[in-house]
Amino acid sequence: MIFITRRLEFCASHRLYNPEFSDQKNEETFGLCNNPNGHGHNYVMEVTVKGDVHPETGMVLDLKALKKLVNEEIILKVDHKNLNVDVPFLKEIIPTAENLAIQFWNVLEPKLTGGELYEIKLYESERNFVIYRGNSRERVD
Ligand code: NI
Repeated sequence: MIFITRRLEFCASHRLYNPEFSDQKNEETFGLCNNPNGHGHNYVMEVTVKGDVHPETGMVLDLKALKKLVNEEIILKVDHKNLNVDVPFLKEIIPTAENLAIQFWNVLEPKLTGGELYEIKLYESERNFVIYRGNSRERVD
């Protein structure tokens, strides 16, 4: 079993808030990220696929094909966008790094051919990143 990763970048804006919270609770929960007119991030995403090395090619999958898939399905739809309003597959979710990673997984996983999606790593900043490996359950509070 071998793991192969493609790194991609995009820039986007968002605002973190829950419409069911009061203004005060949104402020307490999300702090600066609750700024009413949003703020931006330079996101870095690493998509890791696992699989076996094909004996005839020496590869798990063609990285160019992976790059094309992620570009078409994710990057073109989120780059230079407002994640709260511009992206159909992000509607109705709070666009935290956690939720973005889960949605990106849900978009990519069924479309991947050759290899199995193993991990989405999403950096919101140099120091803050999340890792998603599938099978998230609804959180119950
Ligand atoms: Ni933010």
